[in-house]
Amino acid sequence: MMRYSFAKALCFFMLFGAKCVVASAPQPNITTVGPGVKIISTGQPDKFTPYSFCNEKPRAAAMGELTNGKLPFELSEIEISVNARGTVVKIPLSDDEQLYGFGLQIGSFNQRGLRKKPIVNDNPLNDLGYTHAPSTFYVSTKGYGILINTSRYTTFYCGTTNELKDDSNQPAKSFGAANSVEDLYQNRKQAAGKVVADIPGAKGIEIFIFEGPDLLTALKRYNLFSGGGALPPMWALGVKYRVKADFNQSQVGVVADYFRKNHIPCDVIGLEPKWQTTAYSCSYVWNEKFFPSPNKFTDTMYRKGFKLNLWEHAFVNSASPLYNQLKGRAGNYLVWNGLVPDFADPLARNLFADYHKKTFVEKGIYGFKMDECDNSNLSYGSATWSFPEHSEFPSGIDGEQMHQVFGLLYQKSIYGIFKDLNKRTLLDVRSSNAFASSYPAAIYTDIYGHKDYIEMIGNSGFSGLIWSPEVRESNSISDLMRRSQTAVLSAQTLYNSWYLQNPPWLQIDKEKNNRGELMNNAKEVENDVRKLLNFRMSLIPYLYNAFSEYYLQGTPPFRALVVDYPDDKAVYNIADEYMIGQDLLAAPLTEKAEERSIYLPKGNWYNFNSNKKYEGGKSYIIKVGYTELPLFVKEGAILPLAKPLEYITPQSQFEITCNLYGTQLRKTTLFEDDGTTFNYQDGNYGILSLEYVKGKGIVKRTDQKRKSLYNIKNWNQIQ
Ligand code: GAL
Repeated sequence: MMRYSFAKALCFFMLFGAKCVVASAPQPNITTVGPGVKIISTGQPDKFTPYSFCNEKPRAAAMGELTNGKLPFELSEIEISVNARGTVVKIPLSDDEQLYGFGLQIGSFNQRGLRKKPIVNDNPLNDLGYTHAPSTFYVSTKGYGILINTSRYTTFYCGTTNELKDDSNQPAKSFGAANSVEDLYQNRKQAAGKVVADIPGAKGIEIFIFEGPDLLTALKRYNLFSGGGALPPMWALGVKYRVKADFNQSQVGVVADYFRKNHIPCDVIGLEPKWQTTAYSCSYVWNEKFFPSPNKFTDTMYRKGFKLNLWEHAFVNSASPLYNQLKGRAGNYLVWNGLVPDFADPLARNLFADYHKKTFVEKGIYGFKMDECDNSNLSYGSATWSFPEHSEFPSGIDGEQMHQVFGLLYQKSIYGIFKDLNKRTLLDVRSSNAFASSYPAAIYTDIYGHKDYIEMIGNSGFSGLIWSPEVRESNSISDLMRRSQTAVLSAQTLYNSWYLQNPPWLQIDKEKNNRGELMNNAKEVENDVRKLLNFRMSLIPYLYNAFSEYYLQGTPPFRALVVDYPDDKAVYNIADEYMIGQDLLAAPLTEKAEERSIYLPKGNWYNFNSNKKYEGGKSYIIKVGYTELPLFVKEGAILPLAKPLEYITPQSQFEITCNLYGTQLRKTTLFEDDGTTFNYQDGNYGILSLEYVKGKGIVKRTDQKRKSLYNIKNWNQIQ
């Protein structure tokens, strides 16, 4: 039976004379909502929770195929108390357990021993937990996940403080005197046996429990429960380039021609603010001074193999045709003098979506960059552009909760258009939250720490998120090349030149770039970047398969080593290496580093560049050149690499060479569908399997019709 501390809370408040209203002692409800997923609910849970907005159907059949889950504690050991302050949840935690998640954390990885407040923001501010995607979800090396279903600002104490126990007679451990301030206040990582979640204002709560039995299975359950991971269209795995904010139609055309003429891969061109008549706040109307013939332009770009993506945010200017429709369905504060649509109201979301559908998507626009949905920068009193926490919205949601789910609901509105039209997309967004695994939206940020960018790749995999470590200007050629390597080895390869006249590889320095002074060795650097981008294009079939497994099985395509090796203590704090799909391990380098230390988990591994074999369970110092990839291949892998295409169309065919690493080779697969619609969700896809037996490559297809997508040309034995 659940233990409740109502009595205790009541006594406390009575003793100190505070007013305490506890409605009634609620009984906990435990419901099984899917194979290995339970909800504990008590009191009066809030109306506007992340789950309340999730309409995606759990992929129950796939969940049913997972190994049966179990928890390392009894559900009755979870304590919930509701008092005048709000709701407090205490979850057992064992001494040797490590915790990960809380959304797209910046600057921290293993959350054990930390106090974390995942609230929406782009600045990690001393590692408090602020993030673009503040999911109240964590996973444990003991093989389970916990999600506190709330949009309120919640603090998690991840085994930080010991409680005073009535029955405890243990002599207290004293820490003695210290000789410095640092020493005095160091994080002592106490063996506190609880994760405590403090949710001020909540009058009850729902707690989702995702069983394992291991960390990866718990994550799979979470992703499958959220509808299965997003499968971007194939073209979205190519290269995206965003042009300078004030470029006009002919300038964008010049950029497009530059890519094709120089054979630099590019699938998507993103337009930044000036395509609209007014941008802060937005009109969502083409600026015909800059883009005199938008529909013709969109068409021409498409014929050249470019999909267009439009920048915007959700704050609606009075010059917008949406303004009058949304005026009665908006918050009571303005942002940049624009309305804040009440996205918690389905009608407001639909009005917003409908306009975008008719004006843009039906006219050939393939995606949007949904900016500014992550609150002002909470780290500075001077940053005040977003709506206040005490804002009121007609639906009844308050400003605090709206902040937490604003990006999630913005995605929901825009993604709905593409689903309706049976047309896949990959959006850009600056904020998200829980149960968003199926949303095809890549999170980006203005912060530009390369080390953070690398670590966020692993962190994104703990919370069902897609993260895009974009490249802008650079300090040095080394910085540019290292950042490019990271972008190539991430979910979305993006160059964001929103304040750069020329591509960053022609001039790394922002001022010189904008004065048109290109580097003397610009062509050489361009060649080097092209090599990396061509590698990205070679990897697309493999990546596409990894994303299909995200949908089909819930496996995050990009994930930290601890997800695959939860029993290896050596990986518990490795934040800067990660798995891509089943067989690749990436270990990006930052600026100035010619070499780095890498740890390879058990088994044997091959250096992708040199083919040198390494024994796992050990660390090594490795060197990686600028045009090489910081990549290792697991022994036994059949790695399908394609002859690089410059862009992808529905007619594209991939010529594949299978690299064979070792002699005991595992069967591998490629996912075959039309690459652009949601028909795969009705089973319209095929699986191509690749095997190598007795010196012979064997290709099998579950769907013979699909023969044209992959052409398996060569089998190439490594060593
Ligand atoms: C920022 C965004 C940038 C760029 C800029 C345009 O907020 O993060 O990538 O789009 O707006 O004003």
